[in-house]
Amino acid sequence: MTPENFNTVRPVSRRFGLDRGEAIDRYYIEKFLHENRDLIKGVVLEIAGRKYTQKFGGEKVEQSLVLHTIRQNNVDIVGNLETGEGIPESRVDCFILTQTLLCIFDVFSAARNAVKVLKPGGVLLITVPGITQISRFDYERWGQYWSFTDQSLRKLFEKVATPGNIDIKTYGNVKTAAAFLYGLALHEIEKEDLDYNDNDYQLVISAAVRK
Ligand SMILES: C[S@@+](CC[C@H](N)C(=O)[O-])C[C@H]1O[C@@H](n2cnc3c(N)ncnc32)[C@H](O)[C@@H]1O
Repeated sequence: MTPENFNTVRPVSRRFGLDRGEAIDRYYIEKFLHENRDLIKGVVLEIAGRKYTQKFGGEKVEQSLVLHTIRQNNVDIVGNLETGEGIPESRVDCFILTQTLLCIFDVFSAARNAVKVLKPGGVLLITVPGITQISRFDYERWGQYWSFTDQSLRKLFEKVATPGNIDIKTYGNVKTAAAFLYGLALHEIEKEDLDYNDNDYQLVISAAVRK
C-alpha cells in the first residue's frame, strides 16, 4: 500500500474490501472478542447471527440466542433495543453487541436495554466504529446514525453501568484507517501495521461492560 493508492476520490472497494477479502475492522473486532473469549459462556446473546458465539465461545456456551428486530429462521428473540420491545430482563450471561449501536438513533435507550438483558454479573461485549464509511446496506434498512470515540462510548455506558465496570479500548492507526476507508482488505496490510495503536485514529472502539 503506497500513497498512490490514496490519490483518488474513488475507493478501491465500496464494500469495506469484502469483494477483495476480509474487512480490516473485523480484525480488530475479532481481536477484542478473542481477548475476552473466557467471558463468552453460559447463555450468550448475539445480534442477527451466532458467528462470534460459535467462533469464540465454544463448549462453555450453554445456550446460544440470536436477537433480531424481525422474525427470521435463526432468530430466538424478536426485539428492539431502542424501544425495549421484546427485550427480556436478566436473561443472559454474555451479550455480544458488535457493530450495532451505530444503527440505533436513541443510543441511550439501547445501552439501557442492553444492560437490562444481562443477568447480574453478566457482561456486554461491545464494538462500535470510529472512522468508517457508510454501510449502504445498513443505512437503507435500519439507518446508520453514529460514529464513536472512546470518550462517547464511555460516557454512554456510564449512564447505565458502574464506571468501574467499564473497560474501553481503541484500535487502529492512520494507515489502517485510510486503508479501511479506501476499501483495501485485511491481507493487503502487514500484521505489524494492524497492531500499531494510535489513539488519535480510532477505527474500532470496544467496551466490556459488567452488570
Ligand atoms: C452492521 S449490522 C451488525 C451485525 C452483527 N452484530 C455484526 O457484527 O456483523 C447492524 C445490526 O443492527 C441491528 N439493529 C438495527 N436496529 C436495531 C434495533 N433497534 N434493535 C436491535 N437490533 C438492531 C440490525 O438487525 C443489524 O443486524
